[in-house]
Amino acid sequence: MDLDDLLAVARLAADAGAEAAMRWRRRADQLTIEEKAGPDDLVSQADREAEQAIRAVLAARRPDDGVLGEEGGNAAGRSGVRWIVDPIDGTTNYLYGRPDWAVSVAAARVDGDELLAGVVAEPELGRVTEARRGGGTWSGGVRQPELRGADLQRTLIELNLGRAAQKAHAGRMIDALVPRVRDVRRGGSAAGALAQLATGRVDAVWVPGLRPWDCAAGVLLAQEVGAQVGDLTGRSPGTWPASGDVLAAPHGLWETLRELIAGAYPEGMAGH
Ligand code: IPD
Ligand code: CA
Ligand code: CA
Repeated sequence: MDLDDLLAVARLAADAGAEAAMRWRRRADQLTIEEKAGPDDLVSQADREAEQAIRAVLAARRPDDGVLGEEGGNAAGRSGVRWIVDPIDGTTNYLYGRPDWAVSVAAARVDGDELLAGVVAEPELGRVTEARRGGGTWSGGVRQPELRGADLQRTLIELNLGRAAQKAHAGRMIDALVPRVRDVRRGGSAAGALAQLATGRVDAVWVPGLRPWDCAAGVLLAQEVGAQVGDLTGRSPGTWPASGDVLAAPHGLWETLRELIAGAYPEGMAGH
């Protein structure tokens, strides 16, 4: 498996997606906005065209690989590698003209979902963060330092409120965290949050209720700076937690946060 080639393709694909999304941003008043599952689940031509641009790069460079994309669904491959794509993560921010959205492209082994390469581009910030398994996380040509274990009261934590059933417990989760940590943030892009952790813009991330395309690339970025990643039942080394409930934090802080956050949800609600 040529991990450098996978990373180069991930970079090209994320660039193509970012360019398509930014092109639509410049004429955002012409976008037709649709609600998918409900008022909190938006989509527009920008998401679809960005995913088409990403898929075109993948088809040209890695025709035998599978692709799972949020807007285009799953296409099986025969190479043992699958690409996991979110063309715009943080669509609500994107459509409101807020900068916190990202393009997320990851390559993983089909067998066991081992993450191989990943790129998270934050086009409005002019930042691209990337990693390949075992090679560290890089942003702007600079290798990102290993996370240092922060103590709980000096932790800035980025949050997501989760699926409908999890949202009902968001108040208890906030109550558990706010008095004990430095502060909480809610940016609106899970991929962006994990890239922020990998580049020192936040100390920990709790983003429950995700799908693979929201977090695959970001989880690799976090793991490659030494973050522990898992859900409320335990760690998921080398991959994302199958439940989609993603807790990422430095070693030494992860278990403390897991216990604190788990106490806010009824048993079986998050982490399964
Ligand atoms: C969403 C974002 C958001 C998270 C949602 C995701 P989308 O992705 O990652 O932070 O709270 O669960 O669905 O819909 O903007 O691609
Ligand atoms: Ca998403
Ligand atoms: Ca999306």
